[in-house]
Amino acid sequence: MTNVVVIGSQWGDEGKGKIVDWLSERADIVVRFQGGHNAGHTLVIDGVSYKLSLLPSGVVRPGKMAVIGNGVVVDPHALIAEMGRLKDQGVDVTPENLRIAENATLILSIHRELDGMREDAASNSGTKIGTTRRGIGPAYEDKVGRRAIRVMDLADLDALDAKVDRILTHHNALRRGFGAPEVEHSAIMEELTSIADRVLPFMDSVWRLLDKERRKGSRILFEGAQGSLLDIDHGTYPFVTSSNTVAGQAAAGSGMGPGSLGYILGITKAYTTRVGEGPFPTELTDEIGQFLGERGHEFGTVTGRKRRCGWFDAALVRQSVATNGITGIALTKLDVLDGIDELKICVGYKLDGQEIDYLPAAQAAQARVEPIYITLEGWKESTVGARRWADLPAQAIKYVRQVEELIGAPVALLSTSPERDDTILVTDPFED
Ligand code: IMP
Repeated sequence: MTNVVVIGSQWGDEGKGKIVDWLSERADIVVRFQGGHNAGHTLVIDGVSYKLSLLPSGVVRPGKMAVIGNGVVVDPHALIAEMGRLKDQGVDVTPENLRIAENATLILSIHRELDGMREDAASNSGTKIGTTRRGIGPAYEDKVGRRAIRVMDLADLDALDAKVDRILTHHNALRRGFGAPEVEHSAIMEELTSIADRVLPFMDSVWRLLDKERRKGSRILFEGAQGSLLDIDHGTYPFVTSSNTVAGQAAAGSGMGPGSLGYILGITKAYTTRVGEGPFPTELTDEIGQFLGERGHEFGTVTGRKRRCGWFDAALVRQSVATNGITGIALTKLDVLDGIDELKICVGYKLDGQEIDYLPAAQAAQARVEPIYITLEGWKESTVGARRWADLPAQAIKYVRQVEELIGAPVALLSTSPERDDTILVTDPFED
């Protein structure tokens, strides 16, 4: 028995929701360790659909503990709203089933506004990132700049005054630059005091909690958000999110040592998508790209934006296998490829006449690479709902085997529809 870290091995939206849901049923504790309410997924349990953004998946399952680790940026308004929506659906979020790290950073209205102002200004200069405008980046900047307001600060209102002064000196200087009105000290104090009583009951020392649970032998599931190619260090910078999204962050973002993380499960879509701006070597702007988007329902859960679609990029996923230390993958949405005559897989790139088998780190080179493809025969039969290898056409099995070989990691789970049970289980990550 082991703990499990779930991460996305591409640009997010790999279909983590269904797999995390399946695993959370087997876990005792579900921990978020990075990102914030820029993530989004839908869980369908007993026919009821729950939309989660900031809260870990475990929260909708009775008897499970959900934990928001220190690596997460917490928008208290989004938190309260999400708890309210769950309450309307009959799910009570209480300190019995949710803990929030005392040292997690808060997202405030000034962060959300700054995110929006920057994206608007960048739209005019062509340097837009295409963020979710949730204030994620600005909140992480304040954390690293050592001027963030953290959850525990809500418990010490006397000390809060000076902290609000410091953060506002910085933000008001930026706002003046954008021609936006300055924010009054009293407005932020009011914002913080109005939510303190709602947030503080959930506050805990998460590293101590996890240490205790680990010693007890509890099964801990770490739920990553976004994907490895959106990682602030290892992703397609600057078109990335503002946190480390790779598996190592599960340790730093929760306070549990890396030696206890266990099985690293990389959720991997059978083709590639990305939302927002940035390089995408295998992007298809033709009718096949259109087909993948429609068949795969490729619209963002948080922003509703249309996702860009393209062929599977084995060079990129191989890179994610290395940067995450992926033990095995969950391959999702294979059924979206049903009926396509010929399938291509990118195995490397051409850059200025040279062949390389990895995506170069420089932005200009990333924009210039040309994919090198191998072509595989497609399959006509439907793979929707397959639950055994024997249910799959031979060409589909060949595609999966080719993916495994090219990325250098085995398939642990294969998902063939949004339904929970439409999964071929090769290895149970908790039992590996
Ligand atoms: P931010 O995280 O809002 O700062 O956005 C930065 C980049 O990450 C943008 O390209 C977003 O579209 C992308 N992004 C953020 N969260 C997600 C997600 O959950 N899935 C896919 N892309 C995401």
